[in-house]
Amino acid sequence: MKVESKYEFGDCRELIKKLDSKSIKMAVTSPPYNLKKSYGLYADNVHIEEWKELIDGCMKEVHRVLTDDGSFFLNVSPIPDQKTKEIIPLDSIAWELGKKNGFYLRNKIIWHFNNMQNCVNRLSGRWEAILWFVKDINNYVFNLKDVKIPCITKNDKRFDAKAGRNPTDVWYFDRVNNMTKKKLGLEDHPCIYPAQMIDRIIKMSTNKGDWVLDPFVGSGTTLVVAKGLGRNSVGFDLDKKFEKLIKKRLQSEIS
Ligand SMILES: C[S@@+](CC[C@H](N)C(=O)[O-])C[C@H]1O[C@@H](n2cnc3c(N)ncnc32)[C@H](O)[C@@H]1O
Repeated sequence: MKVESKYEFGDCRELIKKLDSKSIKMAVTSPPYNLKKSYGLYADNVHIEEWKELIDGCMKEVHRVLTDDGSFFLNVSPIPDQKTKEIIPLDSIAWELGKKNGFYLRNKIIWHFNNMQNCVNRLSGRWEAILWFVKDINNYVFNLKDVKIPCITKNDKRFDAKAGRNPTDVWYFDRVNNMTKKKLGLEDHPCIYPAQMIDRIIKMSTNKGDWVLDPFVGSGTTLVVAKGLGRNSVGFDLDKKFEKLIKKRLQSEIS
């Protein structure tokens, strides 16, 4: 099936306005988290109120463009306050913004990983949250059979070992570290999420031919995975310097 992969550069809060209401089955994104990442145009150390405005403005438009059975997967992390170093639970803030914008939380997924720096004055952080919001808590796409994982024991009579089991709300995926980025030629973006994680999200919440949106598309991971799975996709990013990388990934990773 021939699918479209579209992208445009500018503030996602404005660009989403160009999309038709109820035209997108699922939005998935990882916005900037205020971690002083060197994206380029975006200064990743804004006041928390400014961060909230960004996410709120984006969510409002995402809610409008989703179909009635659509989903929004928002990946955020607990972050240290830049002055006091106190931990700010961005997922709690994002949940409140989700409620304000008319979403229902279907799951808070814990994305667990090991490859991350070690802390000496607190416990080392080893998870981020993915908030699975739905527009209608009684009507949303959930293709469980497409994302089942192998059973732990083949002899447990409670499960059909061949069909596999529910992947649960705790997921393990290695972060894309600098070594992997170098190997894959992705050094031009500081923060890329693992393709296998997006693969699971797209499979479980959309069907072939559906439209997927990533408002903060970065290096284009969502577009690349959506294309491989036969889904149409559209992505936005503030910074046009990522265009070359997105184009390259769409050509080389999915033929
Ligand atoms: C965490 S990165 C996304 C990375 C992406 N998940 C990937 O796999 O490459 C966040 C991106 O948001 C972009 N950004 C910041 N503010 C934006 C805005 N207002 N509208 C659209 N993109 C924005 C940054 O340029 C950055 O590339």
